[in-house]
Amino acid sequence: GRVGVLYGGCSAEREVSLMSGQGVHAALKSVGVDAYLFDTGKQDLAELMNARFDRVFIALHGRYGEDGTLQGALELMRLPYTGSGPLASSLAMDKIMTKKVWIAQGLPTPKFAILTGESDLAGAMENLGLPLIIKPPHEGSTLGVAKVGRREEMLAAYRQAARYDADVLAEQFIRGRELTVAILGKGRNARALPVIEIVAPAGNYDYEHKYVSNDTQYICPARLDAALSGEIMALSEQAFAALGCEGWGRADFMLDADNRPWLLEMNTSPGMTSHSLVPMGAKAAGMSYAQLCVAILASASC
Ligand code: DAL
Ligand code: MG
Repeated sequence: GRVGVLYGGCSAEREVSLMSGQGVHAALKSVGVDAYLFDTGKQDLAELMNARFDRVFIALHGRYGEDGTLQGALELMRLPYTGSGPLASSLAMDKIMTKKVWIAQGLPTPKFAILTGESDLAGAMENLGLPLIIKPPHEGSTLGVAKVGRREEMLAAYRQAARYDADVLAEQFIRGRELTVAILGKGRNARALPVIEIVAPAGNYDYEHKYVSNDTQYICPARLDAALSGEIMALSEQAFAALGCEGWGRADFMLDADNRPWLLEMNTSPGMTSHSLVPMGAKAAGMSYAQLCVAILASASC
């Protein structure tokens, strides 16, 4: 049947999504899928109804694409879509809610504080210590994220993040190695792919190092002993299941100096650009980019 690749959109990650969608669309076409690009930032739901797609591949990132709102609309339209449903999508889009769910399940995630205003900053620094990480809870691709090493940097970091979200997340900084794990499969029984280690210059895996520069190194499978990589893969599957995620996703971690993994966030519609991580994990599992797209599409439901 006809497959719509939903891409673009109107979030701060629009540019990333344009790259993801173009990659997915070309790959699906290359294996004979009748796929069409559909830009949700430029075309509305009425046009989506009229397009008569049989299924859609969501290659959108961020608000109104990855956050459960679109997934709810697709449920109402009875149009099968890839990835998580409305609840898991909204939970995962909110890094604070995500951490609350994981903590309730006993899963390891760094200590945090919620900043509702400038009067919360001193207490958070007291409680979490420095350095700490400031994040707008509903953004992706490191937008609005800052590391605060000194007290006097806190206010500017907070104000920058507060431009994206009313409440801001302050999180204990975990010094160590940055890891990520793709999760893929039918429904809630998705399985972890090999662990990826990200080695960014000066430990700075920001927007520029995600999508623009070529000086970030990716090691997949990550150089970890078998027991530890097994533990991290199992943790990824538990983190995915705890949120009720489906189809595919990507769990981001820090591994501390004592080799303890800490969950940072779950991405329910991860990047599919040529620099992106899920395609790397798939490749290490013997799956090409096109095979990965077909597998994700095969998991579409509503
Ligand atoms: N938010 C970006 C697209 C990612 O997680 O890959
Ligand atoms: Mg993210």
